[in-house]
Amino acid sequence: MARVDIVEVGPRDGLQNEARLIPLADKIALVDLLSQAGFTRIEVASFVSPGWVPQMADSAAVLAGIARRPGVCYSALTPNLRGYHDARAARVDAVAVFAAASEGFSKANLNCTIAESIDRFRPVMAAAHADGIPVRGYVSVVTDCHFDGPVAAAAVARVVAALRDLGCVEVSLGETLGRARPAQVAAMLAAVLDELPPDRLAGHFHDTAGGALDNIDAALDMGLRVFDAAVGGLGGCPYAPGAAGNVATERVAAHLAARGFVTGLDAAVLARAAAMATAMRTRGADA
Ligand code: HMG
Ligand code: MG
Repeated sequence: MARVDIVEVGPRDGLQNEARLIPLADKIALVDLLSQAGFTRIEVASFVSPGWVPQMADSAAVLAGIARRPGVCYSALTPNLRGYHDARAARVDAVAVFAAASEGFSKANLNCTIAESIDRFRPVMAAAHADGIPVRGYVSVVTDCHFDGPVAAAAVARVVAALRDLGCVEVSLGETLGRARPAQVAAMLAAVLDELPPDRLAGHFHDTAGGALDNIDAALDMGLRVFDAAVGGLGGCPYAPGAAGNVATERVAAHLAARGFVTGLDAAVLARAAAMATAMRTRGADA
């Protein structure tokens, strides 16, 4: 049977958006439980400005506190060289740089233009290359942007090409607002696939409008086999007002299993992790 890999991004993409600061011990407990679920990749942290995303300020402590399971790649976001050095010091296995397909989102998320963000990633790539650390690239707002409206597929393809040329091993396509329809995803992918083959792409679907599984199906039809998801549907993006969390990992895993794909994930552990994530979120809402 064909394999599909789910990259668990809940501890980063999920928790970065919680209103209440989640205690360090809770973050570590969530990652440790996720480590038992069968993931090969977990995005656990983000070395960004604490003034911009206070929820990720304890990222080094999270990485220091988790029980690393052999065979699991623990990664973090790094927007600039400072973030990269901090991530390396925290012994990440991989890092990710993140760009946007619209100028409005780039400004809101990184305080710079798309071109400036790519330039800022160059020293990160050089350092990571020297250290033998793989770098993933993200492109946000691949169909629609809260600030600039509909995003042209050609604009997404241009940023994908730029990240490819920088040396990213994989580019994850962020449908940040979570409102795209499958036809939009297919049109976007048609342009992107001219720049990068499907085995170097990942789908990253937020699920605000409840259509993320349909969008995953559209991407599967076009050959993608890696999808990001957040257990319990945690999160959103602090710089995408109104956007909900990533599609829930446990729903993606069940959907893929029903379609005959192998994910290697343990549904019982995922259910426990989803309950833990939901409890964290509920306590946050009460606070
Ligand atoms: P800036 O204000 O233009 O830059 O922010 P700056 O150089 O003036 O730095 C501002 C302050 O941050 C300074 O501190 C720096 O030292 C500090 P101050 O002098 O004010 O005390 N700083 C840092 N601190 C810790 N780690 C660092 C770092 N860099 C600077 N690495 C900057 C530019 C890139 C720093 C800022 O815009 C930023 O941190 N942005 C991150 C935004 C973010 O994390 N967004 C969420 C993640 S992306 C996402 O969720 C989308 C995704 O899921 C895909 C999708 O769904 O679309 C990936
Ligand atoms: Mg996201």
